[in-house]
Amino acid sequence: MKKLAMLTGGGDCPGLNAVIRAVTRKALLEGYDVIGFKNGWAGVIKGDFIPLNRERVSGILHLGGTILGTSRTNPTEEQIEAIIRTLKGLEVSTLIAIGGDDTLSVASRLHKRGVPVIGVPKTIDNDIDGTDQTFGFDTAVNIATEAIDRLHSTAEAHSRALVVEVMGRQAGWIALWSGIAGGADVVLLPEFPMSVTEVCKFIKARQASGKNFSIIAVAEGFTLEGHEVLQTQALDSFGHARLGGIGEVLCKEIEKATGIESRVVVLGYIQRGGTPSAYDRVLGTRYGVKAVELAVSGHSGKMVSLRGTDVTSIDLDTVITEAIDKKTGKLKLRLRNRCVTKELYDVARAFFG
Ligand code: F6P
Repeated sequence: MKKLAMLTGGGDCPGLNAVIRAVTRKALLEGYDVIGFKNGWAGVIKGDFIPLNRERVSGILHLGGTILGTSRTNPTEEQIEAIIRTLKGLEVSTLIAIGGDDTLSVASRLHKRGVPVIGVPKTIDNDIDGTDQTFGFDTAVNIATEAIDRLHSTAEAHSRALVVEVMGRQAGWIALWSGIAGGADVVLLPEFPMSVTEVCKFIKARQASGKNFSIIAVAEGFTLEGHEVLQTQALDSFGHARLGGIGEVLCKEIEKATGIESRVVVLGYIQRGGTPSAYDRVLGTRYGVKAVELAVSGHSGKMVSLRGTDVTSIDLDTVITEAIDKKTGKLKLRLRNRCVTKELYDVARAFFG
């Protein structure tokens, strides 16, 4: 019997279990055996997996996290060999890698070595090129929007400026969407730098128009004078720094420049945890079904993708690019980022101040 394997890698994201359930159910229908590797690539390296059947994926559709566990494991060349051995040994016909930029770059490395793989794009950041949307994003936006809604009343009651820091490392999709949906007075994205002076101009203009409070939505990857704010200098195994703290920096600067009492809220992992929205459950389910269809028809090196309202697929090769790994200084494969366009940013900007 043919065997399909899957894994979830990188930061978790609402909707992972919807994909796991969809892949399992569709693959069983197609007559496959199904297994799930534990904790991302770490599980494939070690050959650590669980069999997946209808019972095991029952009751997980609405759950956050991933029943398979995840990790940010970046396999060395030796570990790539170990992965190939594991997959051969278990007679896996196709591996479905559910992950973001990092996980799918490993999938691409395996595809280049002749391993049949299909990618499913996941990240709350929504920053993967080649698809109009990743699952998890919608839930994160809903959480951030609710937070902004709630912050309005307390900001107004105290006549304060409230800075809300949301996730978004390379691209500010969460800040943009929740900022527009929640009516933020300034939205700050990695793609569109702005000086503190300019931010404060909007806040003061708002004050002059009779509004005693302001809400500023900022993506964690927003830079001031070209500098990111990091939580630690340490890099993860894919060479990424841990971002965080831009909200705090801005909050202090705004208070200093405007004299308006300011506070910061960092939403952090709240955006990633908990139950996925209906939209993410459906998108994850559609992605899972499509991934199995691709595997059944013998495809490899593909990533499922949303184009308009259609779920389709693209060649992973078309979104892969090379970049310098900050950790090793060597060239590495990575997926191109999909960034916020000027046109969309201008929609949010029309409401600044
Ligand atoms: O990639 C998604 C993301 O949520 C980023 O926005 C954030 O920088 C990162 O994950 C943090 O992940 P962790 O702390 O789990 O490594």
